[in-house]
Amino acid sequence: MKGILLAGGHGTRLFPLTRVVSKHLLPVYDKPMFYYPLCSLMEAGAREVLLIAAPSDLPLFQKLLGSGRALGLRILYRAQERALGIADALRIGRDFIGNDRVALALGDNVFAGDCTAVFRHAAAQKDAVVFTSPVPDPVRYGIATVQGERVTALEEKPARPASNLAVVGMYFYPPDCAVYAAKLSPSARGELEITDLNRRYLQEGRLRALPLPCRWQDAGTSEGLLRAAALVREEELKGRQLGCLEERAYRLGLIDRAQFERLWPLSAGSDYGAKLRSVPV
Ligand code: DAU
Repeated sequence: MKGILLAGGHGTRLFPLTRVVSKHLLPVYDKPMFYYPLCSLMEAGAREVLLIAAPSDLPLFQKLLGSGRALGLRILYRAQERALGIADALRIGRDFIGNDRVALALGDNVFAGDCTAVFRHAAAQKDAVVFTSPVPDPVRYGIATVQGERVTALEEKPARPASNLAVVGMYFYPPDCAVYAAKLSPSARGELEITDLNRRYLQEGRLRALPLPCRWQDAGTSEGLLRAAALVREEELKGRQLGCLEERAYRLGLIDRAQFERLWPLSAGSDYGAKLRSVPV
């Protein structure tokens, strides 16, 4: 399975923080925001990842991650020239996806707790798979009405939500998602909506919705950014590392101990570096 990490858009809800820097590079506790969804993709089983960002931001991501080889990954980069919507990522990634399944992770979504098993399960299905999580403010999200695992309706940011179940920003698709995405028309707000793509799978009876078994935070607003940092800190105080790319690559067996230890000097002197050095053999 391939992975796409979407880290473009304007980040307008975080202005002025994001006027000159991508929101995905802002700190969430002790690491850049996009480290968390990248870790989630690794946990889901993606070893080839396409990172999509605005043209001016791409070099910054490349500077941080390079080819991905040091993490046992293959990371490719593509620019999204204009913020045309989340589903645009699948159109941009069409050649990259090829005949494989793909997990699409939104660069501002932080998952906390162990989602590895459910993400692996979703990766192994034939249908499109989304995850839902209850939210207090459903008007801000893609909202699903579900009966068991069956979705009966999907709406993007509904004025009168039919449920409080948000569709979170980690989607699993069959290879034909790229073809479907290319056929979408922009919504009233001018975006290629991921909810429209999901609705297409719903209409074909090829969409499953699973309850997300772990905690989750969209970090795309100032309140969300603060909450995401608090969530990460809380988990780390319990001894669970979140979004720690080097540690995760080592634990997942993508790199061996010697390769892992070669990464330590890059974070020497920081608390993050100390955390890496404390990972047992
Ligand atoms: O967080 C989950 C929600 O994410 C879902 O419930 C919604 O259905 C989905 O539309 C999305 O809603 P948001 O309003 O939070 O989307 P946002 O505009 O913040 O974009 C999500 C991520 O995708 C963010 O990291 C920026 C990136 N993005 C977005 C757009 C529209 C791009 O890279 N390019 C784009 O064109």
